[in-house]
Amino acid sequence: MKITIIGTGYVGLVTGTCLAEVGNEVMCLDVDTRKIELLNRGGIPIYEPGLEDLVKRNVAAGRLHFTTDVAKSVAFGQVQFIAVGTPPDEDGSADLQYVVAAARNIGRYMDDYKVIVDKSTVPVGTADKVRAAVREQLARRGVDIPFSVASNPEFLKEGAAVEDFMRPDRIVIGTDDARALEIMRTIYAPFQRNHERLIAMDIRSAELTKYAANAMLATRISFMNELALLAEKLGADIEHVRQGIGSDPRIGYHFLYPGVGYGGSCFPKDVQALQRTAAEHGVTLRVINAVEQANEHQKQVLLNKIKGRFGDDLSGRRFALWGLAFKPNTDDMREAPSRVIMEGLWRAGATVRAYDPVAMHEARRIYGDEPRLAYADSPMEALDGADALVIVTEWKVFRSPDFDAMRARLQQPVIFDGRNLYEPKVVREAGFEYFPIGRH
Ligand code: UDX
Repeated sequence: MKITIIGTGYVGLVTGTCLAEVGNEVMCLDVDTRKIELLNRGGIPIYEPGLEDLVKRNVAAGRLHFTTDVAKSVAFGQVQFIAVGTPPDEDGSADLQYVVAAARNIGRYMDDYKVIVDKSTVPVGTADKVRAAVREQLARRGVDIPFSVASNPEFLKEGAAVEDFMRPDRIVIGTDDARALEIMRTIYAPFQRNHERLIAMDIRSAELTKYAANAMLATRISFMNELALLAEKLGADIEHVRQGIGSDPRIGYHFLYPGVGYGGSCFPKDVQALQRTAAEHGVTLRVINAVEQANEHQKQVLLNKIKGRFGDDLSGRRFALWGLAFKPNTDDMREAPSRVIMEGLWRAGATVRAYDPVAMHEARRIYGDEPRLAYADSPMEALDGADALVIVTEWKVFRSPDFDAMRARLQQPVIFDGRNLYEPKVVREAGFEYFPIGRH
């Protein structure tokens, strides 16, 4: 099938590349000329395991094309995926101008039947806006060309995006006509594997499903973070509690890890967008409001522990920070708890020496030549002369360090572990003061 992908950001690039990999002809459109040139050379603008090889292979096979030519890209695909960004605007609601502009372009140039698919995470009701924008352009041209609108939310996890696309748990398709559903079924047939994974529904339900999934996961995390705070006060161990409840199949083990609060490009934005949608419709989401509030508090927890140990005034102190990315296997620092922690340390007068396997270039982009932030070439180097180590992201390389070597390098043997990477007993026997989350 011939498919057009509008927007070569994270979701667009993964979607386009994986659809080409199973044999479709895919054309990806972006307004960013430099990005398109890079992609046509087989390079990729983001860090995502496995993606670069896949892009190279499919470009070389002639199945994957990148262009800035709008008319050409609209003419190309029978199916047009809209995967442009929806950045929060001033009041925090999703800014739909790029989605609507993409829809307008389709209406302006299409000359045969198209299925227009919302792939970006968009507020409930966006499909109606897309439909209206296409209709308006067709009316302006005085033509009547049939088209369908579908919602196909994305459930990719950064760092595992290719795998998530190739082996999905579920494929949610919202449509209100059989023709579009049939075409979407054909596109996703190669990803069904040995049982039906496609869940068809109306458009609004599909739009809401995306928010419901992310809000539920965020709820689990905030719930565990809250219980971890209580466990600390009670002298209980949240790790035992996690195992004790996760073994109930109704609860399950996933997404029960307490930590420094959730971050990233999805959870914070989607939880807030859901709150806003509810408010617009006069509904109060009491649970979701609490999830958001708990997460804001959780981002301060490690900082509070540091101040509890060293005092509110941290001037003259230096902290080693392991992990800048909001989670492992990505260089993404959007809404990363590391930022709240670093900025809090700076405000209290301290400096930071950070190490992250891939996100240091991103931190440089965000903070420029911030004098209170230095970068280390290795996890160990970050420790040299520091007052304590603060662990923010659970990268694999941090999991079994040489504690003796660490003690020798740190000014004081103190570890604040926002990800519960170690057994408290082991770390303490190695001579450290250890501050995990929800453990004693
Ligand atoms: C998420 C969803 O998982 C994905 O389905 C959706 O499409 C996009 O949003 P992502 O943001 O890439 O994916 O990361 P994810 O692995 O879900 O982690 C989100 C945040 O929650 C991270 O900050 C992570 O550290 C935190 N988290 C996750 C916890 O604190 N505890 C957990 O148990 C799990």
